[in-house]
Order: sequence, then structure tokens, then C-alpha cells
Amino acid sequence: MSRKPITLMDLQKAKDEGRKLLMLTAYDYPTSHVADEAGMDMLLVGDSLGMVVMGLESTIGVTMQDMLHHAKAVRRGCQYAHITVDMPFLSYHTSIRDAVYNAGLLMKEGGADSVKLEGGADFAPTIEAIVKCGIPVVGHVGLTPQTTSALSGFRAQGRDEAGALKILDDALAVEAAGAFALVVEAVPHELGKMLSDRLRIPVIGIGAGPNTDGQVLVVNDLLGLFDRFVPKFVKQYAKLRPVILEALLAYKKEVQEMTFPAPEHCFNLTKEAKEALQDLL
Ligand code: KIV
Repeated sequence: MSRKPITLMDLQKAKDEGRKLLMLTAYDYPTSHVADEAGMDMLLVGDSLGMVVMGLESTIGVTMQDMLHHAKAVRRGCQYAHITVDMPFLSYHTSIRDAVYNAGLLMKEGGADSVKLEGGADFAPTIEAIVKCGIPVVGHVGLTPQTTSALSGFRAQGRDEAGALKILDDALAVEAAGAFALVVEAVPHELGKMLSDRLRIPVIGIGAGPNTDGQVLVVNDLLGLFDRFVPKFVKQYAKLRPVILEALLAYKKEVQEMTFPAPEHCFNLTKEAKEALQDLL
């Protein structure tokens, strides 16, 4: 069957028909290209790029310029998947006008199909204003990495009754504001299921158990490329860092031993040039 670019209607249909949605982060052209080929429904240019690509301690320092730079590269590699781009810290907090403007830039310049922003009921008016401008929005509740300082670090959210009810209220507010999907991060699996059952829109979990409408992982975590820490909810489907290290050490050794470049990697002068330059050679 020939593939077509994925639309918002396709994403909602997947939930309605009980087909699990696949979302993966991507930050560059080659990852975007291979993830699209693998059949991901959604690629997320997450502000996690601050940590896993730029080496920052948190996502707080990520700028609109960073997001636009990576979003453009992901756009170039992707034909079919829906591309969601994260709104970085302070790009939607200062005013609704800033939020709409920056969301618009991510679409207009970055090539995003939708934007994602962190926050619950407090951000409902912001989501509503962005959606009114024709920009689809994905919400993000539970552990919200841009506010880990206020949340006392990277820790599971909603484990007690009050916390769980607050996340449910936030999720419902985000849906009512017009978001077309919701990411829920690091919450008990029972809450992940409750949110997916209660919300009409697709709920995409990361550390929210198996019963959400879809799953998302950070690609560098999945591939074993980020070794600063491995969150409990991550499964490493490959361990690429040691593979890369082995290749680089082999390159180093062959250059030092002069076995690389070998004759098959070299260009030759023409016969005539070689004869003419004999003295210089
Ligand atoms: O920035 C990101 O990669 C995210 C995922 C963790 C969902 O928001």
C-alpha cells in the first residue's frame, strides 16, 4: 500500500480504532529519514535536544533558534510522519502574543506540522489562542522537564490521590482548550490508562505504562547514545555508543599505522601527468 503523509485525522482514527501510535524524537536529517522509513506516525523535535545533543544540564537553555535549526533538518528528512516541534522554555510563557508568534515561526520557518508545549490548566488560554490561529497543539503534562526545578527534579508525578487528580484536571483542560493530542510523562501506569480512557484525543505516554494510546521515546535513549543517565522508563533497543567508540578507535589505529587510506581510497594522476611531474614526485 502506498504511504501518504499522516494527518491529524489519521492520528485520531488510530486512537478510535485502538491502533497504538508511534512517536519518536528526532533532531537531525539522518535520524528523521530512518525513523520515517521505519514507519513512525509522529516525529518529535523535542527540546530534549538540549540535553542529548547539545550537552546542556536541562532543557531550560534551549532557544527558539536551536529549535528552528533542528526542526528544519528533521523536515528535510521526513516525507510521511507528522512533525511536532517543542516550544522551548520562555517562548510561550511571557504573553499569548509571544506564544502565537513563536508557534507560528516553528511552522513557518521550521516546517512543523504542530507544536508541543508543557503545562496544564494554567496554559489552557495559551493553547486556545494558538489553536485559533490554525496551529495544531500537543499538550504535555505529568513530568514537565522545563519545570523540573519547581518539581524538585526528574521524578515521577501523580503518585498520590491529589497529584493524580491534578494531572487528570490538567489533561482535561488541555483537551478542552483544543489540543489534538497529549503527551504524559512519568506517571503511574494506572493514571496513564485512566487518562487514555477519559480523553477523546490520543494520549501518548513516556513512562506512563503500556495502556496509553501511543508511546514516545527519546531516540538517543532508545539507541543507547546518551549515557549520562538512563531513566527507569527507557528501554535501550541498541547500545550504539560502544559500537561508535570501536569504529573510531579502529580509524585512529589505521591512520596511525598508515593502513588507511588504502589504494582503493586514493585518486591517481593521469599517466601523462605522472610522467611530466616525475621530478617533483
Ligand atoms: O523533549 C522531549 O523529547 C519530550 C519527550 C520527553 C516527550 O518532550
